[in-house]
Amino acid sequence: MELNVLTLCYLIGSVTFILGLKMLSNPATARKGNLIAAAGMIIAILGTIFLYEEGGQKLGNYAWIFGGIAIGTVIGFLSAKKVKMTAMPEMVSMFNGMGGACAMLISIVEFNHLVHGYPASELPVGTVLIILLGLIIGSVSFAGSMIAWGKLNGKVKDFSFTGQHIFNIILLLVIVGLAVYLIGWPSDNATIIFYAILALSLLYGVFFVFPIGGADMPVVISLLNSFTGVAAACGGFLYDNKVMLTGGILVGAAGTLLTILMCKAMNRSLANVLIGSFGGGSKTGPAGDKEQGSYKEISLSDTAVVMSYASKVYIVPGYGLAVAQAQHACHELEKLLEAKGVDVKYAIHPVAGRMPGHMNVLLAEADVPYEKLLEMEQANDEFPSTDVVLILGANDVVNPAAKTDPSSPIYGMPILDVELAKNVIVNKRSMKPGYAGIENDLFFQPKTSMLFGDAKKVLQDLIAEIKNL
Ligand code: TAP
Repeated sequence: MELNVLTLCYLIGSVTFILGLKMLSNPATARKGNLIAAAGMIIAILGTIFLYEEGGQKLGNYAWIFGGIAIGTVIGFLSAKKVKMTAMPEMVSMFNGMGGACAMLISIVEFNHLVHGYPASELPVGTVLIILLGLIIGSVSFAGSMIAWGKLNGKVKDFSFTGQHIFNIILLLVIVGLAVYLIGWPSDNATIIFYAILALSLLYGVFFVFPIGGADMPVVISLLNSFTGVAAACGGFLYDNKVMLTGGILVGAAGTLLTILMCKAMNRSLANVLIGSFGGGSKTGPAGDKEQGSYKEISLSDTAVVMSYASKVYIVPGYGLAVAQAQHACHELEKLLEAKGVDVKYAIHPVAGRMPGHMNVLLAEADVPYEKLLEMEQANDEFPSTDVVLILGANDVVNPAAKTDPSSPIYGMPILDVELAKNVIVNKRSMKPGYAGIENDLFFQPKTSMLFGDAKKVLQDLIAEIKNL
């Protein structure tokens, strides 16, 4: 009877996970989807703690288990409450690293059980294979995620040396070679080889992420996330635990798909992200290197007039909007203009900001209706009939060099064709480049005007100006 209830718990866990994942794909249902999946997982976890039996024995160890859960819950709750929107990628990276570490620890524990249960020459090949896969993938994901976390919060600096990619490939081959040797020719040295594989995998995780540039970090985090999923699935195989297997496979598949989609949105191959130069390596030089001509500024009062008397306005949010926490002010401006009869919409580039869906989440937080958010392709069709495009802290995602300059590191990346609109107003604090570190010709075009200042402050002042018209 209890076994059936446990199976039911696992079924609920798996179904809610799939349902939750589906709901996460739409901002309107994402919050609920997250809660549903979490609730299903809690049922599966409690089911395992109280109903799982092996050899007629329950798990026990309740003080350890609930002690661990309590500590994890407090840390998770507090960090989720405290985290700023701009620091989300590093938090994702840290949590992902913890998943990798779990998979790694499971492999260590289970390998020790195995070597104490069997003579070295009789280690079961299938089990050792799964343990090693969990160990290698889990520890690469753990070490890589920790470096990614450090790089994103500025504690770890980019580091690379000539021939690093060759070094990485050799390291990986040595790890695979040792794993094959351990499985094919088990000996009394099995434990030493096992820990050598662990150490080298951790080292590989570190060197794998070290040379990757800042702007590419979200792609790497997503890739490491899929690694953690696969490592967790190995744990599911090991324990013959269906919900762990389902969860791991889903995380692995979702992470892989997200990685592919992000690369597509930047028009770059995964190999180019992992070995390439964008963000971290070659740049066309600091702002001001190239003779760009002059740009023109626009005053707040002129901006207020231009926007109030427009019939169609598009707002392009970027990373700067997130940094300034200007989403609420932005929504207020939108409502004010709508009250004056202006049609206001948002044009969302898939990689605007620093993580997938960054702008959608940010604007949802300010209660901007989802139907006002247009994806890049739809927005590009609308720009020719748009009176004013207001760019708020976005730069690379509106850079025409992506289409016109084959030598540009962002060449080929699909962009928002804002220059098709009648007027373009760009809000940023200076003429400094965005994350890709390159100049933006858009700022020097005749129909573009620069509105300098912090996005939140500028929007608040603009709202006041419009109210006074
Ligand atoms: P960016 O190109 O980074 O430009 C952001 C601009 O915001 C900067 O030029 C900065 O100029 C301005 N800014 C900063 N703080 C501001 C503030 N308080 N008020 C007003 N403006 C401010 O951002 P983007 O256009 O959103 O492009 C995103 C970049 O990240 C792309 O290169 C993309 O490929 C990369 N990336 C994104 C992702 C995902 S999934 N989103 C993944 C990988 C890579 P000032 O310093 O002059 O103010």
